[in-house]
Amino acid sequence: MGLLEDKARARTFYRFLSTIYDRINPYVWTEAMRADALAELDFEAEDRVLDVGCGTGFGTAGLLDHVETVHALDQSAHQLEHAYEKFGRRGPVQFSRGDAERLPYAADSFDVVWSSGSIEYWPDPVAALEEFRRVTRPGGQVLVVGPNAPSSRVLRKLADAIMFFYDEREADRMFEAAGFEAIEHVTMGPSYRPNVAITTVARVPDE
Ligand SMILES: C[S@@+](CC[C@H](N)C(=O)[O-])C[C@H]1O[C@@H](n2cnc3c(N)ncnc32)[C@H](O)[C@@H]1O
Repeated sequence: MGLLEDKARARTFYRFLSTIYDRINPYVWTEAMRADALAELDFEAEDRVLDVGCGTGFGTAGLLDHVETVHALDQSAHQLEHAYEKFGRRGPVQFSRGDAERLPYAADSFDVVWSSGSIEYWPDPVAALEEFRRVTRPGGQVLVVGPNAPSSRVLRKLADAIMFFYDEREADRMFEAAGFEAIEHVTMGPSYRPNVAITTVARVPDE
């Protein structure tokens, strides 16, 4: 397991990274990538949407181009402070501090659950995906953006020592284990690293 696949360590990491996050994030996670990921979702303006691991709100801002309100959750108080500055505490975003593996929402609360750039820190991604399925209504969509595993064996070893990198096969395994269907993937990235991210979108089975 990678060094940062630990909740307390990830919190400490973001205590420091949050101060520069918005300046370095655009080098690896661009507006074009976000638009490509958002295009995978079927939105209605009034849909109930959750952003897990919202950080400073980059994904949240993209979601708000499609829906009127968003629920957003992160475990880092430091990341959330930056998000509050952008959206206010009582605006279109309803914030919660919490853990992806223990979501503070009732079953079937959302039409869409989104998570960008957070899965790589979760100690048990399947447990978190099961939580996503629980809080998403039957037929609703879940979308997760994460780091695509490097093809070089040496780079893969290095990457795995830091956090969780995965490929389409592993994403299929996790989403199937968590009970999703219609699982699809797209890889994306900035022009200099076109496959740096993997986006998986899936549906909660209809009852
Ligand atoms: C790379 S940032 C992504 C932020 C944002 N989603 C974006 O698209 O820019 C990863 C975020 O995941 C959060 N995170 C990591 N582990 C988490 C967990 N177990 N539960 C909730 N948030 C978590 C971190 O605090 C951090 O803000």
